[in-house]
Amino acid sequence: MPENPLTKGLERMPVAPTTLVIFGATGDLARRKLLPALYNLAHDGALPERFHLVGVSRKEKAHEDYRAECEQAIRRFSRRKPDEAVLKGLLENVKYVPGTFDDDAVYSELGKVLDEFERLAGEPLNRAFYLSTAPTFFPVIVEELGSSELAQHEQGEVRLIVEKPFGTTLQEARELNRRVLAIFEEHQVFRIDHYLGKETVQNMMAFRFANGMFEPLWNRNYIDSVQITAAEDLGIGSRADYYDAAGALRDLIQNHMLQLLCHVAMEPPVSFTAEEVRNEKVKVLQAILKPTAVEIPEMSVRAQYGRGHSGGDAVPGYLEEEGVPEGSNTETYAALRLEVDNWRWAGVPFYLRTGKRLGRKITEIAVTLKPVPHLAFSQDGSLGVQPNQLVLTLQPNEGVSLRLGAKIPGTRMIIRPVNMEFLYGTAFLSQSPEAYERLITDAMRGDATLFTRNDEVEAQWQICDPIVAAWSDQPGPLPSYESGSQGPKEAEGLLREGDSWRAI
Ligand code: BG6
Repeated sequence: MPENPLTKGLERMPVAPTTLVIFGATGDLARRKLLPALYNLAHDGALPERFHLVGVSRKEKAHEDYRAECEQAIRRFSRRKPDEAVLKGLLENVKYVPGTFDDDAVYSELGKVLDEFERLAGEPLNRAFYLSTAPTFFPVIVEELGSSELAQHEQGEVRLIVEKPFGTTLQEARELNRRVLAIFEEHQVFRIDHYLGKETVQNMMAFRFANGMFEPLWNRNYIDSVQITAAEDLGIGSRADYYDAAGALRDLIQNHMLQLLCHVAMEPPVSFTAEEVRNEKVKVLQAILKPTAVEIPEMSVRAQYGRGHSGGDAVPGYLEEEGVPEGSNTETYAALRLEVDNWRWAGVPFYLRTGKRLGRKITEIAVTLKPVPHLAFSQDGSLGVQPNQLVLTLQPNEGVSLRLGAKIPGTRMIIRPVNMEFLYGTAFLSQSPEAYERLITDAMRGDATLFTRNDEVEAQWQICDPIVAAWSDQPGPLPSYESGSQGPKEAEGLLREGDSWRAI
């Protein structure tokens, strides 16, 4: 097969020798995402030459039993069929430390395991602590790491990776930041938002800032509206405990979708360093108008899925899902109309919507340009003219599509929209790595560009807090939408006259 020149440059950056410690090592995230990501990094030769993994979790078990669990998780969830030699090599260096997260003995045992790895290596190893537990344990673990003197390591770097959710309100996020930053320096902290690890999200920066043709149009003079959709076909599965306390706004909008918005709206950073990129994103978040209590009903919609169909099967409504409290008012769908009140974007609506049990899984950003000012052709066919629309699809078929108006061949001037498409998979002939592969490597390399900074996370909560508060004051029941549908009809109410939601 001829070599594809576009696949050049797909190699990964080197990482210093590291021991990665996962707290919550037997949890769902570790099994489904973290362990498979580590395997795939090993498969690509992208782990450091010396790499050790330590799992910490409550249940008592032997190292071998934990290794067997890791193997099982990797076999089941890895995006690639494991190569036996690579898998064996990865598992050889896995250890397990049992105990509750507030028990000092766990940390002294952990310290011994870390020291022993270094003794065998004959060199200091960097340490990365990954908090993949329920969020209530985050401060406890951080403080234990501090008091057991594991938060600093004279001969190596120590890093703290914190899973979401980072607080459930602004106040909680501030308090968590305070407690984390009392022990660790900000440059040691890596707050995960896995959307930032997606290739297509990073590609948005390349798309905007490496192509001269879009930037002149990228403002209120040419852009009419921006619509960001993160639709899922799945329901809440077995996560009722977490989800019912969170809801769609906190689960997806506060973090992932506001990050997507920032990528669309941010100014070009002076350089692509962690600080510069995050400075620009914070400015966008700060420019988003905070809705008042009176405005909230006009700029937000929430709803809950009812019974319906998914993948051809009949599925229950949210209130019938296992573990959901009777009469719950938690939203499984949320839509907002936001405005970024700055020079570039004033007056341009940013529509955000997300929901479980919608028609299909699709994450996309659609940027609609203003209509042309004048149509010279006045025949009937000119009615087919639609504004240009640029759609960045993040998943499932990653790519970029540009809607243009084209003349239908023939003697009459009839216009219809056509799409110019770029598809990631076709162009690069390579499967994108999972977000967690990129994020784990970046954290081990100490590059925080794709992680949320303390002020960023607080700015995100500043936008969501008033909406959460207003919603919790409103009586239920919530509007409902049929599972497998396009979402609640109430969402139409958010749109400016003439705007419409894209089909899911
Ligand atoms: C997680 C949410 O952060 O993102 C989940 O907690 C959601 O509810 C998931 O399903 C979506 O991620 P992705 O990568 O599948 O779009």
